[in-house]
Amino acid sequence: MDKNVALLVHLLTLSFGLPLVILAQDEIQCPNPSEIEPCVCEINSDFGYDILLLDCSAVTSTEELQVAFQADFPTPVVDELLVRNATLDFLPAGVFGSKELKKAIISESRLRSVDGNAFAGSEGSLTWLDLSENQLQEFPFEEILSGLTQLSHLTLWRNSLSSIPSLSSQSLLWLNLAFNQIPSTEAPLFSGLENLETLYIGGNPLTELPNGLVSPLGKLKDFDASNSFISDLTVGSLIFQSDRVSSVSLNNNSIRAIEPGAIGGLSYDSWLWLGDNKLMALEENTFRPILQYFTNEYYGRIYVRNNPLLCECDMAWLFVNTSLLYHVEGNCWNGTDIWAMDQTYFEQNCFH
Ligand SMILES: *[C@@H]1O[C@H](CO)[C@@H](O)[C@H](O)[C@H]1NC(C)=O
Ligand SMILES: *[C@@H]1O[C@H](CO)[C@@H](O)[C@H](O)[C@H]1NC(C)=O
Ligand SMILES: *[C@@H]1O[C@H](CO)[C@@H](O)[C@H](O)[C@H]1NC(C)=O
Ligand SMILES: *[C@@H]1O[C@H](CO)[C@@H](O)[C@H](O)[C@H]1NC(C)=O
Repeated sequence: MDKNVALLVHLLTLSFGLPLVILAQDEIQCPNPSEIEPCVCEINSDFGYDILLLDCSAVTSTEELQVAFQADFPTPVVDELLVRNATLDFLPAGVFGSKELKKAIISESRLRSVDGNAFAGSEGSLTWLDLSENQLQEFPFEEILSGLTQLSHLTLWRNSLSSIPSLSSQSLLWLNLAFNQIPSTEAPLFSGLENLETLYIGGNPLTELPNGLVSPLGKLKDFDASNSFISDLTVGSLIFQSDRVSSVSLNNNSIRAIEPGAIGGLSYDSWLWLGDNKLMALEENTFRPILQYFTNEYYGRIYVRNNPLLCECDMAWLFVNTSLLYHVEGNCWNGTDIWAMDQTYFEQNCFH
């Protein structure tokens, strides 16, 4: 090392002056309030460090949002942008003036379209994008997912999307497409979402689950296709390949029949939610293999409340085995809890 440089480093280290100077320069600051109207900026320190929150819920047009983001920001990072119940219509390319957004919530704001480059400037910073309760019929999935390389959460809950292309992203962990207009035939291919852990696709006009919907997702923990119109589950429709499945929800569908081998790959403590369906029996060929994923030490469950279960001899295999029954929570058609069934009755009358 050059002698003078070495001396300089030595002096700086001794004096502690340099780190303090850097800290002072890095301190985040809101822009001049009048320049960003009607947005409101706030520095929040609740978490022990400062974050910049920008609330633009008062904007009445896309232009107003665009003008606010043209202001000079002393620190061009917006930790959280909130736009709720505003009137926006669309998000054009570059609307955020190259500011670096980390988390953006733009909900209930009548959005009809989003340009694939709307988040220009946030390519390496945006981790969380929530566009729920808008009026999107289309969404530029490919550009958004390939452009935003850090995006881990994407919520498009309660829009009007009717078809989804094959999706691809390394960073996405959480995807909520619930309550849109996606029919079974337009269900997306998720094989390019290798790290996805949570998928919500319920509340769509799904009548079946296309085979292989979840099997390419090696990290999936939570899957929710509740509140749809699924009537039958055929072989191979829900075979999980992930190490640890936490929750699978098919509550509030129209499920009458589940073929043996339709559901597989659960974990020792998974919860399988089948409440509010049309099951009249829990057939042994289908359900015994599912129950075998569970062990007595853990609270893995099949939840079947509010199904018209007849609780006849076709369920005797379950009623006579307390350790299996322990993992099932439900009631018969008339309301009687399945844990209250008379085991002796089924032992004596159902096996010949
Ligand atoms: C949304 O905004 C409208 C006015 O534009 C207002 O009447 C309504 O109360 C707001 N709703 C919520 C939930 O804030
Ligand atoms: C059941 O699903 C239907 C269809 O999505 C929905 O309209 C209804 O509100 C849901 N019921 C409950 C109790 O969530
Ligand atoms: C409900 O139905 C089950 C199965 O038929 C029967 O064992 C039970 O006693 C019934 N409960 C009532 C309250 O009638
Ligand atoms: C209950 O089922 C389990 C799993 O199939 C089996 O290992 C056990 O022996 C059964 N218990 C009784 C009392 O039949």
